[in-house]
Amino acid sequence: MTIERDATAAGSGQSATETFQKKARENAGQADPARVSAVAKDALAALHDVIRRHQVTYAEYDALKSWLIRVGQDGEWPLFLDVFVEHVVEDVANADRKGAKGSIEGPYYVPGAPEFTGEGTLPMRDSEAGTPFLFQGTVTGLDGTPIEDAVVDFWQADDAGYYSQFAPGLPEWNLRGVCRTAADGTFKIHTIKPAPYMIPHDGACGALIEAAGWHPWRPAHLHLKVSAPGRQLITSQLYFSGGDYVADDVAQAVKPDLVLHPTPVVSGQGEQVTYDFALDPA
Ligand code: DHB
Ligand code: FE
Repeated sequence: MTIERDATAAGSGQSATETFQKKARENAGQADPARVSAVAKDALAALHDVIRRHQVTYAEYDALKSWLIRVGQDGEWPLFLDVFVEHVVEDVANADRKGAKGSIEGPYYVPGAPEFTGEGTLPMRDSEAGTPFLFQGTVTGLDGTPIEDAVVDFWQADDAGYYSQFAPGLPEWNLRGVCRTAADGTFKIHTIKPAPYMIPHDGACGALIEAAGWHPWRPAHLHLKVSAPGRQLITSQLYFSGGDYVADDVAQAVKPDLVLHPTPVVSGQGEQVTYDFALDPA
């Protein structure tokens, strides 16, 4: 049997590529040629400028070509783009919001996780490792009015930093779930605290990180999409105060508003936190 330790860059990269291609087909549309030209021209001009500024040699140009080819062969385009580029796209997309802050989606969202209403426990293994964690809060409008039947679509890595459906050996929906809010707008999600996540280091992204002397870590994080009819969906991530890499995320996706301050649970084991989401009108 494959166990999650056997996860490889090629394995998770391939799944991330397939997941993205399924999603991208639904989004397919015709781009305006003037817009394509303006953005592509500026992107190329930025690259030309880097080559001039750093006096890039033919040897370095060939190394770049080999590396770009390898990113594709390893299926790491979703990983590379989500780690090194998406945070700026997210900033631009959500700049005008007044409510809950967003963060990058990353490559590991899968729609269709098991649902519950009000309070529930994410699907997990009997022996799921990690500190028990209660994540609770209220979904409201910008004026603070609670929203019933709002959707909190939640996914996270396990205590070893692996995502179900992308690392082998995990149950299909492990640590993924959709919580619909109760009549008073509240949600209570019982889970475990995830571990910091190391982006796969045995493929092209790892080769770049090693060659540049960077580190491959993201701080431990929870992923969410919160939505309700008539409101803008917000995609976000939440981090843990004092955790490793919170101040040094390889994906640059941490914002002060997204850092949780959990406390020990009153009775029993584990930690809990309350975090509310105010949704902007659509
Ligand atoms: C990647 C993984 C994540 O869990 C995430 O939140 C963002 C990016 C990645 O491997 O690209
Ligand atoms: Fe993640």
